Amino acid sequence: MNYDIADAKRAPEGVKRIEWADRDMPTLALIREKFAKSRPLKGMKMSACLHVTAETANLVRTLKAGGADVVLCASNPLSTQDDVAAALVKHYDIPVFARHGIDNKGYYKHLSGALAHKPNVTMDDGADLVTAIITQHKELQKQVVGSMEETTTGVIRLRAMQEDGVLPFPVIAVNDADTKHLFDNRYGTGQSTLDGIIRATGKLIAGQVFVVAGYGWCGRGLASRVRGHGAKVIVTEVDEVKALEAAMDGFQVMPMSEAAKLGDFFCTVTGDMHVIRPEHVKVMKDGAIISNSGHFDIEIDLVGIKKISKKVTKNVRGVDMTQYQLSADKSVYVLADGRLVNLGCAEGHPPSVMDMSFATQALASEWCVKMKGKLDNTVHIPPKSIDKMVASLKLKSMGIKIDTLTPAQKKYLSSWDMGT
Ligand SMILES: NC(=O)c1ccc[n+]([C@@H]2O[C@H](COP(=O)([O-])OP(=O)(O)OC[C@H]3O[C@@H](n4cnc5c(N)ncnc54)[C@H](O)[C@@H]3O)[C@@H](O)[C@H]2O)c1
Repeated sequence: MNYDIADAKRAPEGVKRIEWADRDMPTLALIREKFAKSRPLKGMKMSACLHVTAETANLVRTLKAGGADVVLCASNPLSTQDDVAAALVKHYDIPVFARHGIDNKGYYKHLSGALAHKPNVTMDDGADLVTAIITQHKELQKQVVGSMEETTTGVIRLRAMQEDGVLPFPVIAVNDADTKHLFDNRYGTGQSTLDGIIRATGKLIAGQVFVVAGYGWCGRGLASRVRGHGAKVIVTEVDEVKALEAAMDGFQVMPMSEAAKLGDFFCTVTGDMHVIRPEHVKVMKDGAIISNSGHFDIEIDLVGIKKISKKVTKNVRGVDMTQYQLSADKSVYVLADGRLVNLGCAEGHPPSVMDMSFATQALASEWCVKMKGKLDNTVHIPPKSIDKMVASLKLKSMGIKIDTLTPAQKKYLSSWDMGT
């Protein structure tokens, strides 16, 4: 078996972590049981590029139970849990190409390692595998039945590929399923981003001014969690409707140029580039903490900030914080080198929310294979039936029952003739 991991001896630690996560992933466990019987992915070679975490381990176990011959590589150099990677290889017999803290060259070597598997189905978190197939591994384009995409930034890239006419196979935008972005992006990112910032800094959030850049699914979740901790929250936006929503939700809304002067903490969750730039950092308070929870490490212009700094000191508190000293009496601190702070400084989303995202991933993979040859080469949203199934299984696992429509209600809701 071909693989590249940091330390195979850490497998027993990883198994414990994977089993702990599995306790909170009952929906995915049910799908795994069903997959083991029906084997919907039998004969499929799958390459997945995801954060190598305990929750992801339970997804790839599910894909394997469904009959897929699956390999995994990391979708981010800082999110890999080396013990989990070791457990997947040594305990679950699943090849992994991932090492925590790998450099850029190693990261792309790992992508190539996963693609050397010659997949029929791919799964991405950020569209890196699809991009590599389009730009470097054209020979794979014909054999790929379809691909699944986990995150907003990946879906944006894939829609741009579709627009340019270069998408070589159908892609399922798992991120756009309700059972993904409504819960994972909002509650998962909300909690784990705050978790990462607290773990990295050890600071109290109450009474501080916390600036959230972007009021999309992730931003809404983060802003409400931070408010729950007693912070005064400022939101920055570029979209009029989202800005209005943030204002009506009770947050202060203003441009970053003004918020920069007020914030103690800053976190970007926009999917956009250079949201925090040198001109903002110049007016920030001494000691401001800057982080990002959007997919790529481009939301904070670190190159520009480095240029205006007198001194840059890495690892000032553990491995996750860099001090940018602007003058004798002013420094700002950047977490996880501007990469996803919830994965760089904490453990990513809690398993009970990834239970839904990855149940949706598993069912979307089954659907993608079932639809082989019937989908055009565009970005598809998973069918509503998948959302309904995942939500009903999750409700069941939470012991929650809901009402059903009476026949009269069903008729009323599908008719137009009954008015006042
Ligand atoms: N940290 C994680 O684990 C995690 C989880 C899910 C998604 N993500 C990533 O987080 C990012 C946001 O995802 P989302 O689902 O919230 O997207 P979204 O599209 O719902 O929201 C993004 C928001 O950012 C705003 N925005 C864009 N440019 C801006 C700028 N310059 N200043 C202020 N606001 C700006 C947009 O108007 C939009 O409202 C994406 O990169 C996504 O891939 C991260």
